Amino acid sequence: MAEREGSVAEAVVGTGPAPMLSGSPVGERGSMAAEVWEGLSEAPRTLSSKYFYDTRGSELFVEITGLAEYYPTRTERTLLERRGQELLRHHAPRALLELGAGSAKKTRVLLDAMETRDGGGVYIPQDVSGEFLEETARRLRDEYPHLEVSPLVGDLTHPFEPDLEVPRPVMVALLGSTIGNFTDAQATEILTNIQSFLQPGDRFLMGADLRPSAGKSVDELEAAYNDARGVTAEFNRNILANLNRRLGTDFQPDRFQHQAFYHVEGARIEMHLVSQGPQTIRIPGQGIVELENGESIRTEISRKWDRPSVERLFALGELELLEWITDERERYALAVGGPR
Ligand code: SAH
Ligand code: TRP
Repeated sequence: MAEREGSVAEAVVGTGPAPMLSGSPVGERGSMAAEVWEGLSEAPRTLSSKYFYDTRGSELFVEITGLAEYYPTRTERTLLERRGQELLRHHAPRALLELGAGSAKKTRVLLDAMETRDGGGVYIPQDVSGEFLEETARRLRDEYPHLEVSPLVGDLTHPFEPDLEVPRPVMVALLGSTIGNFTDAQATEILTNIQSFLQPGDRFLMGADLRPSAGKSVDELEAAYNDARGVTAEFNRNILANLNRRLGTDFQPDRFQHQAFYHVEGARIEMHLVSQGPQTIRIPGQGIVELENGESIRTEISRKWDRPSVERLFALGELELLEWITDERERYALAVGGPR
């Protein structure tokens, strides 16, 4: 069980960057500690997956995308290579705004077409992982001298900044099946935010990893999150190392075991960290969490889709599904939506 410690001011103790003003304990670090505390106190215990992505986490994720077992990235890339040029010609966006862009490796397929667009194109990669995003932007400017690259550090679960101006028509992209990492309520909110940003003629491009079917077994799906080299396990444990660095928690990452499995009823992969032995973890400014041997913390969900579930999600966000593109084994889909 978790017990709350008395002093809120404890959040200022530690080795963090700027010391917080006394009497103002709810700084960024304070609210992050509170969120972490809240997740760890729930049943089931959870940690927000956005804490995976410090620079190390972003690097590890890039490594995941190159793994033999991790088919989503290369399947999505194949679809973009086959249909990307045509999509851009057809929908003719002047700007591409990509949410959770990461290394933007696959997006290059689209950028090749954007760069040669009449009047020049604008690429706005957005991500929470700020330093990594800067690095991505630097590289893209070298590679695409005719493209305007304007990175945006931000949280894709938040509404768009009211003063965000982009050339129209814009294509908002959410690739890598990132939508699957959010609950139904969160995903609906994300789509609603996107929908309110879109104007007539604008488009939404979404990548979605599909449910097991004749073309994809549960084993193949689970293997994508349980690679033989243990990169995904390291990525999973890095969330704890990141919290130690940012919050001063005292997790021992090597005392947690990576676990990932497909939850059939929920149509989702769940990723957990399972405590090896009983452990006590201190969340500075919040309290202590006591884990029993074998107790787990859920760190990620990765929901899997089919056409009806994407149509339903789009409808909740008041978007119309205009195109549905899949590979021949129906492992992965690109969905194009527009305002109704
Ligand atoms: N689009 C890339 C990366 C997908 S991984 C691809 O398809 O390979 C998910 C990306 O989303 C990471 O780069 C991560 O830093 C970013 N991310 C995670 N949560 C986010 C959030 N709440 N807001 C913005 N970006 C987020
Ligand atoms: N959205 C992708 C997926 O669900 C990438 C991803 C997010 C991921 N978190 C992950 C991949 C954790 C492996 C492990 O597949």
